[in-house]
Amino acid sequence: MKRRRAASTWLALALGGCAPMAGPVASGDPVRGERAFLKCYSCHSIEPGEHGYGGPSLYESVDRPIASVAGFDYSAPMRALSEREMRWSADLLDRFITDPEAVVPGTDMTFTGMEDAAERADLIAYLRENDRDSR
Ligand code: HEC
Repeated sequence: MKRRRAASTWLALALGGCAPMAGPVASGDPVRGERAFLKCYSCHSIEPGEHGYGGPSLYESVDRPIASVAGFDYSAPMRALSEREMRWSADLLDRFITDPEAVVPGTDMTFTGMEDAAERADLIAYLRENDRDSR
């Protein structure tokens, strides 16, 4: 009887029916994500206050208010997004990294996009981990 219940629990997990927050975005691997971040590193620092590489620092960027790094000169379309959306939720980040132009047409972020959903999930897990480390 016990075994049966366990199996149906796994089935529910596999179907994703029991945890609305635990989508693919929530299940990334931060260690692999650090490697994925190399694609961002040419423009973004992960250290607080460092934005000398062309993009704003991505320190504590998950759930951070959009276009909120003091002293960084955001594009008009990015500032416009900050009036429509409050924060870089994991979901919005995921969509932005997939195709920056599609989410913020005219953005200064000239990054063609990351197509691999698993790689994006890893990357977001890494950005989250970095937040936790630094608290
Ligand atoms: C070629 C340089 C470049 C690369 C590569 C790049 N970015 Fe950016 N990024 C920018 C610039 C420039 C902005 C500011 C965009 C604007 O103001 O329109 C930005 C903005 C952002 C923002 C918004 C930050 C805020 O404070 O609102 C996020 C999040 C972001 N980038 C994530 C990433 C991630 C994750 C990667 C790697 C997958 C990446 N970027 C790769 C240049 C880059």
